Amino acid sequence: MRIIIYTGKGGVGKTSVSAATARRLAAKGYRTLAMSTDAAHSLSDSLDVNIGGSVKTIEKNLDALEIDIIYEMETRWKDIEEYVKMFMVSQGMEELSAKEMAILPGMELIAALFHVLDYEKRGTYDVIVVDTAPTAETLRLLSFPDVSQWYMTRLYGLFKKLIGLARFTIGRFLDFPLPSASVLKSLEDMNVKMGEVRNILQDPTRTTIRMVVNPERMVINETKRAYSYICLYGMTVECLIVNRMLPDGAGTGFFAEKLEEQKKYMEMIHHAFDPMKMFFAYLIPTEMMGSEKLDEMAAMMFGDSDPGVIYATESPMRFYTEGEHHFISLKLPFAAKGDIELYRTHDTSLIVQVGSHKRNIELPLVLKDSELMGAEMKDETLKIKFRRKEKDVQ
Ligand SMILES: Nc1ncnc2c1ncn2[C@@H]1O[C@H](COP(=O)(O)OP(=O)(O)O)[C@@H](O)[C@H]1O
Ligand SMILES: [Mg+2]
Repeated sequence: MRIIIYTGKGGVGKTSVSAATARRLAAKGYRTLAMSTDAAHSLSDSLDVNIGGSVKTIEKNLDALEIDIIYEMETRWKDIEEYVKMFMVSQGMEELSAKEMAILPGMELIAALFHVLDYEKRGTYDVIVVDTAPTAETLRLLSFPDVSQWYMTRLYGLFKKLIGLARFTIGRFLDFPLPSASVLKSLEDMNVKMGEVRNILQDPTRTTIRMVVNPERMVINETKRAYSYICLYGMTVECLIVNRMLPDGAGTGFFAEKLEEQKKYMEMIHHAFDPMKMFFAYLIPTEMMGSEKLDEMAAMMFGDSDPGVIYATESPMRFYTEGEHHFISLKLPFAAKGDIELYRTHDTSLIVQVGSHKRNIELPLVLKDSELMGAEMKDETLKIKFRRKEKDVQ
């Protein structure tokens, strides 16, 4: 099973491109799921069918799902929901309903990731096409497995310790309820699952990102930043879809001017992203909705070709050893040197921060306790240097 995640700024055409791709994949014989993680779902509108929170078959080989977080909370996370409720009440806060908890940020992302895992295990689909919320939200999706695992491992350890103590000593004095064994088990399961999700997301033969852009300055700038952050999170950007292009000879006056401007922006796009594989879709006079229009879009983008092909599989992160040093190289396109910071935490992880985005990189065992010597930025790649431990150097 492979996962194709479309990202991009709001309104660039992610939902349309996702729906068009999913339809084409289904037509090519892939068992396909189009899944929306954007709380403001518009996949239903795009496909012109009412989808909803459970999987709906649209046509042969094509299913669709719009993650409904309230439904997910009620069906999947009973234990955790109960605990959070209990916790809130013990803190003198009003009890939260599933509905209210559902507005906690990131919830539909976790739900989506767990769906992906289920389908992977069951082998239900050949391809899952993920239609996401605008960039910032999606970056959270990508960072989630790292971040949550980091927290969960520590939280879980703390709970376990507290529970060991509390039963005999301080139980009555704790001013919050300790999670029950079943909640603890749920947390542990969630943690294990997140680890599995991370392995899927960071494996470029299984998961790739496709960025959708428009020939407009602000959109291009956001896409460049997103590219850098996606690499930071260890995921592979596979291709770029340039949507909403004005067709050549679009007319006179206003449109002629727009077309001139577009030329400039197309140059910017090529300058920034060549030699990445690119696909192009023109602005059509009507809205991109319903099967006919979506198939027209798929034809503009892919011609007759198969969009299930993986266009690039280069992982942005690599570990290697040279002489007395170990290195981690991390591709960070468009990241300025001054925006990058590195922190070594006391345990086996390294935090790389680019602007406001942080990634917690779990270091391979050989790097545990090896001295971090520094880092340099060259050819858009951050090269982090560690001294090999004496005993490892022959
Ligand atoms: N190539 C196109 N030509 C005409 N309309 C388009 C095109 N691509 C997208 N649209 C329209 O633009 C709007 C935003 O597209 P959508 O796919 O919902 O973007 P996003 O999911 O990125 O917010 C929708 O009304 C859609 O029908
Ligand atoms: Mg959308």
